[in-house]
Amino acid sequence: MGYIIVLTAKLNAWAPSGKLEGDKVTKESDATIGIIGLGYVGLPTAIGFHDAGFTVWGVDVSQRTVDMVLQGKNPTGDPDVDDIVPQPGIEKWHITTSAAEAVPHCDVVLVTVPTPITHDLKPDLSYVEAAGRDVFNHIKKGSNTIVVLESTVYPGVTAQTWLPIIEELGLVIGEDVEIAYCPERFNPGDAAHGVRQVARVIGCSNPEVGAALVSLYSKLTTEDVRYVGKLEVAEAAKVIENVQRDINIALVNELARIFPALDVDVEDVLSAAATKWNFHRYTPGVGVGGHCIPVDPYYMIQRAADVGVPAGLITAARAVNRSMPSHVAGVVTDLMWNANVPAGEAKVLLLGWSYKAEVGDPRETPAEPLAATLLGKNISVGAWDPHIESTLYPEGVVAVDEITDAEGYDLVILATAHKACLEIDWKSLLTKMRTPLLYDGRRVLDLDKLESMGWKTHAVGKPV
Ligand SMILES: NC(=O)c1ccc[n+]([C@@H]2O[C@H](COP(=O)([O-])OP(=O)(O)OC[C@H]3O[C@@H](n4cnc5c(N)ncnc54)[C@H](O)[C@@H]3O)[C@@H](O)[C@H]2O)c1
Repeated sequence: MGYIIVLTAKLNAWAPSGKLEGDKVTKESDATIGIIGLGYVGLPTAIGFHDAGFTVWGVDVSQRTVDMVLQGKNPTGDPDVDDIVPQPGIEKWHITTSAAEAVPHCDVVLVTVPTPITHDLKPDLSYVEAAGRDVFNHIKKGSNTIVVLESTVYPGVTAQTWLPIIEELGLVIGEDVEIAYCPERFNPGDAAHGVRQVARVIGCSNPEVGAALVSLYSKLTTEDVRYVGKLEVAEAAKVIENVQRDINIALVNELARIFPALDVDVEDVLSAAATKWNFHRYTPGVGVGGHCIPVDPYYMIQRAADVGVPAGLITAARAVNRSMPSHVAGVVTDLMWNANVPAGEAKVLLLGWSYKAEVGDPRETPAEPLAATLLGKNISVGAWDPHIESTLYPEGVVAVDEITDAEGYDLVILATAHKACLEIDWKSLLTKMRTPLLYDGRRVLDLDKLESMGWKTHAVGKPV
């Protein structure tokens, strides 16, 4: 316990207000922070703590990631990280593949490893377990190192996964180690909501550790940092944030399927409804992607099932969003048949492949099931995305390196609203189309303008 008081004192001495002034740091801390997993979350977190004056030890099992970071390069697809990776030789910045090397130096270790789902849509906690084991194995007896899980999980995971390992290794809570949970909420590709600008919540069964962590994270972010009580509260808060987004998006996606059947454009309805003060507007699309929203609800569904409580709404929302790519594939197939595109010769071009605009991240992208469904209908699929390396496309999808190379397509689908995709030379692309069909899968294009150029435009939620 004494150590925690020392840590709190260290942090408070460094900035007695417990808050940063703007985002400039004038003093340096002598606390050392370990970050396990240097991906989309871990790397900017490590950079953030280093910028805040802390000594940082970053660990990743991927030799490629470690090599790139050591060269001052960004191994992730988040463009906001491109220019901020510390350059070789900088002080207080240590990067390694070895937790054994890093952990003994650290006062606090943050774990930011993946929490994916298995093929049968169940939580895959193997990374949390493996990373935890690696950290706890190298904690010095008596050091009372604080280990914080930041990965998104369902309520109960931190304690259920890590306490048995701690016990097995003969470590004592409160003497050798403390565990806590602090979910990451930043938004890759969105500089206004980076790791240094988002509010944080901390869950921990020991309020003194919670207070020390509030003090620590207050050096990282300019926003509110709050101790919220036990681990499970913070774990649940994170997962329901993403469940709520999935449900809200599912509602507009469902409406985008109903209203065209009534000969009404869903966007007109949403614009009208949004004039009411308490209506929350979301935009329909070809589907929901990324590492969080299409994944995290399955964590909540599993936990509800474990305790025998139905999670019907969460499950239904997931089903709606998951079915959007195949719904869109069906709509565009009909559009091509109605335009007399010969069966067996149809060619579709996807503009954008990342799951969201301005990042080069293809994880769980709805473009993949959309392309797979089209390929399954014997329709050729090409994809152009200036943020994605051509090697990342799945088999069967033709990588279009330059948009000027795209030729002979029958239908273009705007799948990701990258600025580069919105601003292509639409006139020039039109001259190279075999059939001038365009489908706005994100409701971001000026369809009237494109129609006046000669495109035959359609969009998700718009009557045909
Ligand atoms: N990406 C986001 O937008 C975002 C936002 C908030 C929360 N999250 C959550 O944060 C967690 C991490 O997500 P991410 O997007 O950074 O994942 P990521 O795949 O980009 O990065 C994870 C990193 O951990 C490394 N790793 C795996 N096992 C390891 C181990 N045992 N030791 C050391 N390194 C290991 C991997 O090599 C990888 O570099 C997930 O739970 C995710 O749900 C992600």
